Amino acid sequence: MQQNLTSHRQTITNQHLSIMKSNTQQFNFSDIAHGMWRLHQWNMSTGQLQHFVEEAIGVGITTFDHADIYGNYTCENIFGIMLAQSPSLRQQMQLVTKCGIRLISENRPENTFHTYDTSAGHIIRSAERSLKNFRTDYLDLLLIHRPDPLMDATEVAKAFTDLRNSGKVLHFGVSNFAPWQFDLLQSHLAFPLVTNQVEVSLLNMDAMHDGTLDQCQRFGIRPMAWSPLAGGNLFGEAATPQAVRLQKTLSEIAAEMDAAPDQVALAWLLRHPARIVPVVGTGNIDRLRGAAAALKLQLSREYWFRLWTASAGHEVP
Ligand SMILES: NC(=O)c1ccc[n+]([C@@H]2O[C@H](COP(=O)([O-])OP(=O)(O)OC[C@H]3O[C@@H](n4cnc5c(N)ncnc54)[C@H](OP(=O)(O)O)[C@@H]3O)[C@@H](O)[C@H]2O)c1
Repeated sequence: MQQNLTSHRQTITNQHLSIMKSNTQQFNFSDIAHGMWRLHQWNMSTGQLQHFVEEAIGVGITTFDHADIYGNYTCENIFGIMLAQSPSLRQQMQLVTKCGIRLISENRPENTFHTYDTSAGHIIRSAERSLKNFRTDYLDLLLIHRPDPLMDATEVAKAFTDLRNSGKVLHFGVSNFAPWQFDLLQSHLAFPLVTNQVEVSLLNMDAMHDGTLDQCQRFGIRPMAWSPLAGGNLFGEAATPQAVRLQKTLSEIAAEMDAAPDQVALAWLLRHPARIVPVVGTGNIDRLRGAAAALKLQLSREYWFRLWTASAGHEVP
């Protein structure tokens, strides 16, 4: 029985690996991405947003992360108004968005309860609505936002395949999936999922120890790290003993490396062999430039483990 299970797992892994290897169209993330979850809070004019996006592209941040639900279903449209005003930006960026959550909202009166929905119909309708919001005819990458306990992998695969065949979506991935949920969906697809977007930061190292990042390395896909600076909780008034330890260690290392603490926190993620793509959420152009400059910081193994130790509260065993 155990032997059958092991050989079944090996067959699935071999199938995944051959799909990954056969893939000729790898998704080109910028090494740092920008996330638009907080866009509606910034009160930027369309011109200011255009300037912000041009600055990001200028420093090499070309991957922009969205979700249909951000800003109570408004952020994609705010971004799309900016793209309509400056259409040449579209070719210079990779647009990522997500679907699969249905919120109660005056902007979606048809939603009568807060649910997940990974039915083929919902995925396709949501992607088509995102295209309209962005004023574009293709999405670079579409993610299932959260694992849905009612997910029927056959249906998701059908929706993904239809969207791919129609050219509306070029690549697909998932977010917040456990490795076995990723495996389930991948086993129904003839093309590779290109990412699993998960929470990873110095305040949340779970993905480093629960198999998520190991799976990405195994399949050669780049994980996207959401809230890579813990939503700002690594800075300002520290709310927990863990944050106090991390702030102290980040400041010490930043001083030794002649860098800023937030750059060191990003360099810590960038040092990981899974080739993590941090999705920074700042609305501040100076911090954006600082994030791009973090790519040049080479964190030594000793610095890396000093930060791991500060996060865990103990040395490695
Ligand atoms: N897939 C998912 O389930 C999921 C969930 C959450 C988020 N996301 C994605 O991940 C993206 C990033 O998330 P996030 O916004 O939480 O990322 P983050 O980069 O960890 O946090 C951004 C926040 O931290 C603040 N901050 C950054 N550097 C700072 C510093 N040095 N000092 C003080 N405050 C600082 C920013 O303020 P300023 O604006 O003032 O710089 C902003 O409020 C989102 O936009 C979204 O695209 C995905």
